[in-house]
Amino acid sequence: MATGKTKTVWFCKECGNESPKWMGRCPACGEWNTMVEETVATGKKTAGVQSVSVPGSSQKPMPLSQIDSSHEQRISLNNGEVDRILGGGLVEGSLVLIGGEPGIGKSTLSLQIPLHCPHLKTLYVTGEESAKQVKLRAARIGGDDSGCMIYSETLMENIIAEARAMMPDLMVVDSVQTMFSQNVESSPGSVTQIKETAAMLLRFAKETGVPVILIGHITKEGSIAGPKILEHIVDVVLQFEGDNRGTYRLLRSIKNRFGSTSELAVFEMTGKGLREVSNPSEMLIPMHEEGLSGVAVSAMLDGTRPFLIEVQSLVSTAAYGTPQRSATGFDVRRLNMLLAVLEKRAGFKLSVKDVFLNMAGGLKVSDPACDLAVISAVLSSNFDFAIPSDVCFAGEIGLSGEIRPVAQTDRRIIEAARLGFRKIYVSSFSSLEGISGELAKLKGKSQGAGIEIVKVADVPSLCRTLFK
Ligand code: TYD
Ligand code: MG
Repeated sequence: MATGKTKTVWFCKECGNESPKWMGRCPACGEWNTMVEETVATGKKTAGVQSVSVPGSSQKPMPLSQIDSSHEQRISLNNGEVDRILGGGLVEGSLVLIGGEPGIGKSTLSLQIPLHCPHLKTLYVTGEESAKQVKLRAARIGGDDSGCMIYSETLMENIIAEARAMMPDLMVVDSVQTMFSQNVESSPGSVTQIKETAAMLLRFAKETGVPVILIGHITKEGSIAGPKILEHIVDVVLQFEGDNRGTYRLLRSIKNRFGSTSELAVFEMTGKGLREVSNPSEMLIPMHEEGLSGVAVSAMLDGTRPFLIEVQSLVSTAAYGTPQRSATGFDVRRLNMLLAVLEKRAGFKLSVKDVFLNMAGGLKVSDPACDLAVISAVLSSNFDFAIPSDVCFAGEIGLSGEIRPVAQTDRRIIEAARLGFRKIYVSSFSSLEGISGELAKLKGKSQGAGIEIVKVADVPSLCRTLFK
């Protein structure tokens, strides 16, 4: 236990900002009612980011040109999707945080990795489940457990000592909220403990070169000290998203010191762990042969990856005075804006209708290119007029009803063609140089039998061409 005096300080559980007194609103991140009181030991260096900037402190300053970067080793995790979002495998000595709501599949993924990589000596530290529970889970996932050591422990000093003795090729710590260090006098899961745990793991990873995967929970309200406060300590942050009830899980890279961010990987939760979905469009586009009214497909882009997603809408007469607007996976304010545009620029009386919108697969969409599919789905439901299932859309709607071009329209068109779509609606202002060459190449290869590109300038002309 720490010696010396103890004092209490207040921490923001959202961003980790420290304050000597309670405040209603955190001055650093602006969140309300997030300050929690914690005891810290004084007279001795305690938790915090300050203490983590020392790895390799025996080094002297040296010219950039003399630094050898060629030995940056990447370890393949035998999982194409995870390797891809890490930027081509796990970097030695990196600290990777996997965050997500409880039950989303963090433990499953991080156990699945060693089971599918028996050549890697792995130390799997579990503070959350007993070793027996881990065993049962491993039996469900299958694979080869010969390289995997399970260690049920929550005291960080013991964990680091074991890890130093074993020198594994990979270390997994599940979860940061259950670990604690003797250096810090507060309970596991508190801001100081979380920071100290991460700092100790970071020091271990940098000094030994062992990559560490750290799991952290976040709740919907962010009500416990979540991975947010760790984001600036770790090298990579991967976040699990998706609907717990649905079977699809999305893993997004939101910080990566060794690769690009805003990459997205898609998994399906099966009875035997998480299955990679290497072609997400297949899960997100309709199964029905005939078009249904209220359904439109959007050629969207998440990160650097184009894929097609089904947008579903239901428009019905408002049962009560105030019409309802509800959206799953789409910003409801944006939906209201699009409905107002339809009302004003195309004369549709949607104000007396309830409008429901849903994105397939539990995906949260923020790409403005989905606007065009959203209004097409709404109009299609409103008129009860089906859009053929081989038609898709990519365009942003402006306030005056104009259809604006979106980033990388050519890649969206190529993805749509590759998946066998026959027609795509885009903005008339899109520049599409070189697209015909790309499409011709595709034509020779597979089902991309040729896609018709329909350019539309505004909402009224979309209605004219779509519902003629
Ligand atoms: P888990 O990985 O424990 O989530 P987290 O660590 O993020 O809290 O479990 C995710 C859920 O997945 C759990 O409800 C059980 C389910 N599951 C399967 O459907 N198939 C499987 O093979 C496994 C291991 C779990
Ligand atoms: Mg878990």
